[in-house]
Amino acid sequence: MNTVNRIYLYKRYERFWHWSQALLVISMLITGFEVHGSYHLFGFETAVSLHTLFAWTLLTLWAFTIFWQFTTDEWKQYIPTLKKVDAMVRYYTFGIFRDAPNPFQKTADKKHNPLQRLAYLALLSMLSPVIWGSGLIYLFYAYWKSWGVDAWLNLEAVAFIHTAGAFMMLVFFIAHVYLTTTGHTPTAHIKTMITGWEDVD
Ligand code: HEM
Repeated sequence: MNTVNRIYLYKRYERFWHWSQALLVISMLITGFEVHGSYHLFGFETAVSLHTLFAWTLLTLWAFTIFWQFTTDEWKQYIPTLKKVDAMVRYYTFGIFRDAPNPFQKTADKKHNPLQRLAYLALLSMLSPVIWGSGLIYLFYAYWKSWGVDAWLNLEAVAFIHTAGAFMMLVFFIAHVYLTTTGHTPTAHIKTMITGWEDVD
């Protein structure tokens, strides 16, 4: 017989940070693709202002979150490991469709499976710098001349890199939302991220 235990996985600040970041990233996708010209929603000028406001808000949120990660030692949860990565890939590609048991058991000390660790690390070390770097350079376009960088910086190239980053963020978002549905029930992981508590066997 299975016994179900409840473990406290996500602390209060962590949940606040997760949901506000999610809201901001979704808002940046919506306003960003309007700036790009994909559709008309708020109007170009308003979309640009909102996009810039969300960018500064996200930057502030990140400053607090980096501080939180280091003061609570939670940053260690993102140290990558290749152990069991193959088992996780097999689980997500085959096992999950045949009711096989998840090869990874979450604990409060190890709340991310090995595949999650790799995905979050890639997001943090590759995608974020691309979006943030190109976004900040884009934002300060008006100063390029006075900074003397206008001779070698090209607006189209910066916009292209930023848009490529936005598409990658969209792919991450879709995969992330799909994976939230793979718990005991389709909404189990979402509930955990709201309450902090997870049921484990
Ligand atoms: C999830 C995060 C983000 C997404 C999905 C996103 C998406 C986009 C997209 C699709 C565009 C249109 C690009 C074009 O066709 O020219 C855009 C424009 C822009 N983004 Fe972002 N972006 C994000 C984060 C940021 C950040 C962090 C910053 C600044 C630090 C930023 C600053 C800008 C600026 C300045 C523009 C140009 C607005 C204008 O035309 O005046 N973005 N963004």
